[in-house]
Amino acid sequence: MTPTSSHVPFATQLSNVYLSILALFCFKLFVKISLNLLTYFYIVRGNRKEAARISAEFYDYGQNHTFLKGHNVNVLTIDHVTPLHEACLGDHVACARALIDAGANVNASTIDGVTPLFNACTVGSMACTEILLENGAKPQSLVYQPSPIHEATSKGHYGCVEALVTWGADVDMEIPHLGTALYTACVCQKLECARKLLREGANVQKGKSLDSPLHVAAEKDCTAVVTLLLDFGADINARNTEFLRPVDVAPPSSITEGFLLLYEATPRLLSQVCRQCIRNCVGRDRLHLLSHLPLPNRLRSYLQYQ
Ligand SMILES: *[C@@H]1O[C@H](CO)[C@@H](O)[C@H](O)[C@H]1NC(C)=O
Ligand SMILES: *[C@@H]1O[C@H](CO)[C@@H](O)[C@H](O)[C@H]1NC(C)=O
Repeated sequence: MTPTSSHVPFATQLSNVYLSILALFCFKLFVKISLNLLTYFYIVRGNRKEAARISAEFYDYGQNHTFLKGHNVNVLTIDHVTPLHEACLGDHVACARALIDAGANVNASTIDGVTPLFNACTVGSMACTEILLENGAKPQSLVYQPSPIHEATSKGHYGCVEALVTWGADVDMEIPHLGTALYTACVCQKLECARKLLREGANVQKGKSLDSPLHVAAEKDCTAVVTLLLDFGADINARNTEFLRPVDVAPPSSITEGFLLLYEATPRLLSQVCRQCIRNCVGRDRLHLLSHLPLPNRLRSYLQYQ
């Protein structure tokens, strides 16, 4: 203690100490609030690297990138739902991105087999779907698990279907109780999704067991989908398990029934038959190469159904 301080009354010295402690506390509080705000805005504004750096520096979670703001990003609920599942279900793209960057498991599966990708497809979040696929999420599930492509198709989320196909989902995968994605599109009458799947080479005959997509489209009296399927070469004479043809399952005297009867009686256009033949020769896995063929634009577009 300095000699001068002995002249100051003891009570004043004591209050100075309290004041200093209070000031220090306020300062620390201020710093902490500022840092929290800064981290928050960086995460919200999408500058994840900076957010990670800030949290790493000040909260010391840095070494192990599976922690975000002090929580394990792969924490599970009792049903094995992860934060990434929730982020995708809510279409919270920035959150999903931050979680993935912090090491969240993109292939995490709940006890029901639901993945974050499935959730993104349920709500039609194209951005989440793409982020997940870009970060290695598997584009399709096992046969007995909820299938992202069927889900996106049933809801008519065209963008998600497109992303899934681009990242290698099998367009012909058949799930016992749902059939193929094309069959689902016909059941739910999602014309654009059906078109997309067919353009990507989905087998027009493959539905659910012996029930072809044309059967279900006829049954639903959906002439637009029926026309599309016939355009892609659907077999008008295919028989289902009851040995019925599509025209037999169409509602009696419906527009679709009339359309199918007329179609049967009309010879198919040679150009259509040729297109079908060429596409079959090229094969599903090489259809994307059609755009590179040195053909006149009109012909190329015709082959690609554009
Ligand atoms: C990261 O954290 C996990 C979960 O606690 C732990 O198992 C793992 O060993 C840690 N990794 C490193 C490199 O510290
Ligand atoms: C997700 O699963 C797929 C297929 O099993 C695998 O190829 C991929 O590497 C996994 N991704 C990650 C990030 O673990």
